This record gives sequence, structure tokens and C-alpha cells, in this order.
Amino acid sequence: MTSVLRIEGGHPLNGTITVRGAKNFVPKAMVASLLGDSPSQLDNVPLIRDVDVVSDLLRLHGVTVEFDQKRGRMSLDPTNVKVASRSDIDSLGGSSRIPILFCGPLLHQLGEAFIPELGGCAIGGRPIDFHLDTLRKFGAVVDKRSDGIHITRPAEGLRGAIIDLPFPSVGATEQTLLTAVRAEGITILRGAAVEPEIMDLINVLQKMGAIISVDTDRTIRIEGVDRLVGYTHVALPDRIEAASWAAAALATRGDIYVLGAHQPDMTTFLNTFRKVGGAFDIDAEGIRFYHPGGELHAIALETGVHPGFMTDWQQPLVVALTQARGLSIVHETVYEKRFGFTEALNQMGAQIQVYRECLGGSECRFGQRNFYHSAVVSGPTPLHGADIVVPDLRGGFSHLIAALAAEGTSTVAGIDVIARGYEHFTTKLGQLDARVAYAAD
Ligand code: EPZ
Repeated sequence: MTSVLRIEGGHPLNGTITVRGAKNFVPKAMVASLLGDSPSQLDNVPLIRDVDVVSDLLRLHGVTVEFDQKRGRMSLDPTNVKVASRSDIDSLGGSSRIPILFCGPLLHQLGEAFIPELGGCAIGGRPIDFHLDTLRKFGAVVDKRSDGIHITRPAEGLRGAIIDLPFPSVGATEQTLLTAVRAEGITILRGAAVEPEIMDLINVLQKMGAIISVDTDRTIRIEGVDRLVGYTHVALPDRIEAASWAAAALATRGDIYVLGAHQPDMTTFLNTFRKVGGAFDIDAEGIRFYHPGGELHAIALETGVHPGFMTDWQQPLVVALTQARGLSIVHETVYEKRFGFTEALNQMGAQIQVYRECLGGSECRFGQRNFYHSAVVSGPTPLHGADIVVPDLRGGFSHLIAALAAEGTSTVAGIDVIARGYEHFTTKLGQLDARVAYAAD
């Protein structure tokens, strides 16, 4: 697939697209299958790069993975799990952060695990200290070497622990869940992430035989069990993709029905979408997002962990805010470097200024630490076409939206990274009457 799209902007996106399983859940459920002593089946699996990477990593470890792409059905058989070579793991590691979540299951099954150099979007430091501290608390031996991090299980096995997360990290919560379910005794996790994707992973683990409870104060309690069996599960839909298409409808003054969008996972986004001036109709199969005409309104927005406004919703919505009248303030409190994509928007005529201060909300971890994590968006500003290079997954989708909203023609290079999290996105653009075509590299 060539990696440059030519886009003729200025036309509303109208039509219906389908969203399938969540990119930030499906790979974790695939890893969870390692913990079972019988095969698992996962439905509503999307055809995205992150799923491909984890499929390959699982196969390296002897897991049989079969994926009926059309049906979205994946079967995973972990009964012949084995140690994989470090060089093979390394060859796959750099394109995703998921390899770090193999640790708990592999320590239980094989007594050892290896963390290669991790990938993931350049939106901040992406440290893994919470993960390593958690594994040590379970009794694992963490050995940082030049070729990566080698982890081994102690002779007495992994034991339940009391873990206090300094920040409700999604990954560290998943690391704890995937390790605690088979550890000896009870694990108490305080300050946990409770995103819908986390809750669906808990659903999967409970189906496998785990004993997990979640308190309203972000405390998760896990009672370790000796064995887990395979699961059958339908993945929750991707609320980030749904919100991305909603933002595209707003920015292009269009009307998009997102089949598969699920209101309970998007409550905060829907409130914000309405405050900006968007409209939506909800039915049992999905959500219609549309621009009702008239002006959009500037807002003050602060991202946060669930149930706050999700950091991954921020970039697509900022493009719509360039078309809103007034000054919008966006305070990004989850990642320290998530406004890089605004440079390209300013090239296209937007007026976005980024600041180191915590603007529009409470002081966050990044206040006065030289991170440009607040933005002021002045609108409405007409956007004009430009030649853009995609910086990361969500910023890249925002560039697509900007090019679709802009008058004139744009080229968007490096679009392959968008395939990591948006299934068949060029086909979907076609379904929405977008004027796009692949350009020569
Ligand atoms: C997951 O990343 C998602 N990725 C991200 O989506 C999402 O933005 C993020 O959760 C927050 O919801 C996947 O699920 C694959 P975190 P994760 O651990 O788990 C700090 C997308 O575009 N932290 O919740 O890596 C970290 O620096 C991606 O789909 C530590 O300091 O995120 C960040 O500031 C982008 N030490 C904050 O916690 C650690 O050991 C949140 O990170 C771990 C995290």
C-alpha cells in the first residue's frame, strides 16, 4: 500500500461506516489467552496492525492463532506455549507496546519472559517503571541487560501483592491483572485505571475462571487461582475510532452513522460533542453524528483518565475546534507531548498556540516542567490544503480530518501508521464520499 494519500478537501463526509473491536482491548484479550489451558475464541476482531503484531508474537511462543478476517473471529490455542528466541521477539517488539503485557502470562506458563525495545506513539516518554515495579512486587526477578529486560519467576512462584499506582496507568493495570489472576494469594491494586477496555479485560479473565472485584475508589482486588481455561468473548467496540469519525463529521459539516458505536463507553465524549455544537442520534446498533448547521462553539476541555475526556479523543476534536467560534482551551493531562500534530494544522491556516502552563483546569503532573501540554485554539479559521507528514496514530487521523475539511488539495504522507488503529480507513473514507486517492510515493 503506498503511503501517500491525495485528498481534495472541502466536501462533507456523509454515509455509514462500521467500527469493530477496540484496538486498546483486543490485543490484551489475545495475550490473556496465554493464561488458559484450553483454546479461546474472540469475536469482533478488527483487521489492524496491532492485532497482526500480537498474532505474530503469540505464534512465536507456540500459540496457534487463526483469524477469519471477514467474520472478525479469532481462535487462539495456547496448549503448546513455548519460549521464543529473543531475536525473534526483538524483530517484532518495536512496533507496539503490547509485548510488555506478555510478562505475567509467560512467567506463569514458562517461568521466564523478555521485554524488547517497545514501540508505540511518540507522545511522551512512555516509561515502564510502574510495570517493572509491579512485577517485582509479585516476586519476579527483573534483570535489565543491553539486549532488553529479562524476567524470571522465583522458585516459589509468583505471589499476590499490594500495589499502589502513582497514576491510573492503563498498561500497568493490565500488567497487574494478567499477573495476579494466577499468582498465589490475594492482590490489591489501588489507584487502578478503570477504562471500559480494562473492564472488558476483567470480563474475559472472569470467564476464564479468575476472581476479580472493582471498588468505586479505583481499588481492584484479585484472588489468585491455580488454573484458568479458555474464553469465548465478543470484543467491545472501538470508542476512539467512533469518536474520530464523529469529529470528522463535525469538521467537514457532514453526517456519519457509526455502526457499532456504544453510548455507555462514550458518555463524556457525547457531552463534549454536544457542547461544541454537534448533534447525535443513538439507536441500538450505533450512533449518528452530524453537524446540525450554524456555528460551532469554543470550549474549555481537560483530558483525563476514565471517566474523564479520553486523551485519544483530543487530537481529532481539536481539528473541529479550529472551526468553532471563539477561543478553545485544551489541557492535556495524560501525555506530556501530545500537541505535535498542531504544527501541521497551523500550516493549513489554523491558529493554535501551545503552552507549558496547565491552562483551563487543575494543576497536573506536567505543570511547569517544560512540557507544552496546553493549547489555545482560536476559531473559526478556514483551512487550506498542504503537504503533511503523519506524526503518530491519532495525530495522523487528525491530519486526515484537517485535509478533508480544508479547501483545496492536500497530500498526507506516512499514512501506514494510521492502519495500526483504524481498520480499512481508506475504504471507509470512500464510503463517506471523500475525494481521496493514493498518490505516488
Ligand atoms: C494505553 O496506553 C493506550 N494504548 C493509549 O492509547 C491510551 O492513550 C492510554 O492507555 C491512556 O488511556 C494501548 O492500550 C495500547 P498509560 P498506555 O500507562 O497503557 C505514565 C492510542 O492512540 N506511565 O495509561 O501506555 C505514562 O507516561 C494509544 O490508542 C508511567 O509513568 O498508557 C502516561 O503519562 C496512545 N509509567 C500515563 O502514565 C508507567 O510504567 C498514562 O499511560 C506507565 C505509564
